[in-house]
Amino acid sequence: MADTERRADLVVVGAGIAGLTAALSAAERGLDVIVLNKGASWSPDGAEQSTATFYAQGGIAVVDPGADDDSIALHLSDTLAAGAGLTDAAASEPILSDGWSAVTQLVGRGAEFDSAHGRFLRTREGGHSVRRIIHAGGDATGARVQAALGTAAAESRLRVLDRAWAAQVLTDAGQAVGVSYVHGGVHSVVWAPTVLLATGGVGHVYAATTNPAGATGDGVALALRAGARVADLEFVQFHPTMLFVPGARGRRTLVSEAVRGEGGRLVDVDGSSVTAGVHSLGDLAPRDVVARAVRAAMERTGADHVYLDITGVDDFAARFPTVTAGVRTSGLDVDGGMLPVVPGAHYLCGGVVTDDAGRTGVPGLLVAGETARTGLHGANRLASNSLLEGLVMGRQTAAQAVERASVPIREIGVPALGSAAVLDRSVLQDAMSARVALDRDAAGLAEVAALLATAAPRDRDDLRVAEDASLLLTARAIVAAARARRESRGAHSRADFPERSERAVSRGFALVDDELVVIGERVVADALV
Ligand code: SIN
Repeated sequence: MADTERRADLVVVGAGIAGLTAALSAAERGLDVIVLNKGASWSPDGAEQSTATFYAQGGIAVVDPGADDDSIALHLSDTLAAGAGLTDAAASEPILSDGWSAVTQLVGRGAEFDSAHGRFLRTREGGHSVRRIIHAGGDATGARVQAALGTAAAESRLRVLDRAWAAQVLTDAGQAVGVSYVHGGVHSVVWAPTVLLATGGVGHVYAATTNPAGATGDGVALALRAGARVADLEFVQFHPTMLFVPGARGRRTLVSEAVRGEGGRLVDVDGSSVTAGVHSLGDLAPRDVVARAVRAAMERTGADHVYLDITGVDDFAARFPTVTAGVRTSGLDVDGGMLPVVPGAHYLCGGVVTDDAGRTGVPGLLVAGETARTGLHGANRLASNSLLEGLVMGRQTAAQAVERASVPIREIGVPALGSAAVLDRSVLQDAMSARVALDRDAAGLAEVAALLATAAPRDRDDLRVAEDASLLLTARAIVAAARARRESRGAHSRADFPERSERAVSRGFALVDDELVVIGERVVADALV
């Protein structure tokens, strides 16, 4: 039995762009909403922030209806090209089309984007054929968006519980009825007809990542345990330019792709271009292509990094204050014009399978943002499509919650926190980084699967253990998906299966008797793409 019980129309797990947009939209429509935020109360001054939204630099990819060089069709075509055949065009078009309206609403909630002469300034990132990325504070887009949403939440009737971690999605007869969580050491419950998971990504499955410390795959694990399906988890996107600091683990500074959009160039330690002859878009090729070119340059030269030459970027520190601050905090400086960078774990392109309203196969359980697999990102997300998706799908899930507000639920007995299998976090991260990162093969995947199977149960009574349990289940799901995909596509590269298959298949997995089993395969595209 839980120690305290609350009731709401909607319980949102996560306080980034998708979670807060959903919560605010639902509250504006009269719903009683509770937000469970694993991190500390949002504060602009915190040294470490808890949402990936805060750390987003480049911006939001959105078609300005007034731009004569851009259109939804062009944005879709860039998204499909980056997605390497696995992006679902039918699912993506409405998300891209709703972008401008969602951004306009965000501006109404207080977000200010960099502008001149009454128009948003636009930059360019990898895979985009035109400048369509709007930004705020130079490269502080995510921080400004988080500030606007955090302020709007504080001024609204939302109930936000900070430092509250979700333990379980509660289900009754297959329907979500609430969430059990721990807050201030007390095991508690929110009963609600709609549960939204918007917990962000999985970066800490790896030893070094651009993600905040809380990106431990919680949403994937919660959804799998509740009976939902995940798909395409093998597509973990590595950002080509994470700041390189020898031996550093955990969250590392991202060096935005927009730096290349404004004239930065990738060179190896001998000064040669990293992407020459690799792709017609050069340093602004899709992210998987550039990340692999960086890795190839490192292999060629034997160096443990390449350089981002920023000497061609005008007034770097003013245009990229966030990168500049991160570089300085790491004990480096931008004045020399050469930033050491490596690919780093950045974004989960797959996730919990949802439809166009954020619905999973479990009635009442919705998922949005990085945790979800809507079909937009395919095998390799187009840069800056993620904040866009979080905004748009946040609104969609709020509409769903409104529709479900009067669905009756039964308040079931609440299971104890119990135990869960965990593995030493560094051991898991090192194995995933060595064998399940940019390059994979059958032997390495089998080795990691065997290691993950040695996990032992621990009482799940504190956050660290709960996160370790999420990391383990998420890593198992990534490895299972990577083993099943016997081809190379987008962010997934198999040395033993270097070719791309003719059919682009999205593969779903569910947790059955604690085993990850394939429960659905869907052909997304038939042609060789
Ligand atoms: C970046 O600024 O390079 C990151 C943007 C993104 O991941 O979409």
